[in-house]
Amino acid sequence: MAILPILTYPDPLLARKVKRVSEITDDLQTIIENMAETMYDAPGVGLAANQVGIDKRIVVYDPDADSVQREFQVLINPRIIEYHGSMISEEEGCLSVPDMRCDIRRAERIVIEGQDRDGNPLKFELEGIPAVILQHEIDHLNGVLILERISTLKRQIYKRKRQKMLKNE
Ligand code: NI
Repeated sequence: MAILPILTYPDPLLARKVKRVSEITDDLQTIIENMAETMYDAPGVGLAANQVGIDKRIVVYDPDADSVQREFQVLINPRIIEYHGSMISEEEGCLSVPDMRCDIRRAERIVIEGQDRDGNPLKFELEGIPAVILQHEIDHLNGVLILERISTLKRQIYKRKRQKMLKNE
């Protein structure tokens, strides 16, 4: 297993729509294990494959990432098919958008369709924080960062700050 480097804004791979997984292979299982290890190491509560440069619609997540018992979930080719209600996710952050926390309007409850790591079809409902995590990760697979979910002004301020950060690296 390996910890993979996490791409950060403005890497172009983060702004691109990611390809569907068409075949469940051993390589795919290795990618999933590495993604989970990378997520826990970061540490984060979710990770989309394109954040580690992999062009496949895979998400790993664990809303209890800080607990001792690590049990991550995997979703292949996830799709949100229903959105219900609305909530503000407070201080939402992203491993690919360093030094940024923002309140984002999200659906309170969603219904998701996809496949598990063995390719079996899945359909389930999520509410609250886990629903926010999945909306965030599926945004990633569609090339959307939290920066696109905030005001133009806040986005411009962040872009300037990020350019300065990169210059000083
Ligand atoms: Ni993120």
